[in-house]
Amino acid sequence: MIELLDLDAEVLQDYFRDLISWVGREAAGRPHVVDLGAGSGTGSLALARELPGATVTAVDLSPQMLAHLSSRAESAGLGDRIHTVEADLDQPWPDFGPTDMIWASASMHHMADPAKALDSAFAALRPGGALVIAELDSFPRFLTGTPDEEMELRLHAEMAKRRHEAGLHMHENWGDRMSQAGFTSVTQRHFDIELRPPLPLSAKRYAALSLGRMRHGLEGRLPSADLVALEEIAGGLAGRDDLSVRTERTVWLARR
Ligand SMILES: C[S@@+](CC[C@H](N)C(=O)[O-])C[C@H]1O[C@@H](n2cnc3c(N)ncnc32)[C@H](O)[C@@H]1O
Repeated sequence: MIELLDLDAEVLQDYFRDLISWVGREAAGRPHVVDLGAGSGTGSLALARELPGATVTAVDLSPQMLAHLSSRAESAGLGDRIHTVEADLDQPWPDFGPTDMIWASASMHHMADPAKALDSAFAALRPGGALVIAELDSFPRFLTGTPDEEMELRLHAEMAKRRHEAGLHMHENWGDRMSQAGFTSVTQRHFDIELRPPLPLSAKRYAALSLGRMRHGLEGRLPSADLVALEEIAGGLAGRDDLSVRTERTVWLARR
């Protein structure tokens, strides 16, 4: 998962650059940013770079993610401005101190009770502070326009069912939820991301890891012939020049 998240940032770098420069313009002075479900550190590092006076508190329940994030921050010379907090955000939140911006990328859908998480975010922000939620409308697809496209679409449909059964909050209208929690000035941006073939090696590795993760997640849910076909596809990606990357993301920014 750590490598997949790092590759997500590398492969989708144009999207992240656009997003971070937009969000960066919304932060004034030397903000304190709290990164919820910080993962491998994509948002924490990018925001610390974009906002040279900022301090970042990176929060996650996974000590492995936080250890990786800290070592990336040290290597990037940002160790003095990025601090980690291990916490389960489904429980009452720790006091993060005065907070100017909360960033939650691909993490809000994991919260057991989104309304409660938004209330906690509202309480944690200083008046005027910003909440940014970035979510996936669709997980990356790599085989569009190839003979394997239909298979990939079936896999995604099955994964969507699995996420729904697991209680993940995909496809929420976070803007409406933000307004209900008392946030104002909600802005929404949609990003349609498409990388055309031929893909660089990093994107092929990203594809192999994504499909491998789906294979793992669909064990016992698909006929074994499909799983074998998926393994064959995932194993042969490095030599293909017909792969693309397609994914859609939506980002909401609102003020307390
Ligand atoms: C899909 S990753 C996103 C990571 C990162 N924000 C990014 O955009 O690359 C979701 C992260 O949320 C964390 N997470 C999930 N549920 C959580 C919870 N209840 N409390 C804290 N972190 C949580 C996971 O450990 C994981 O690192």
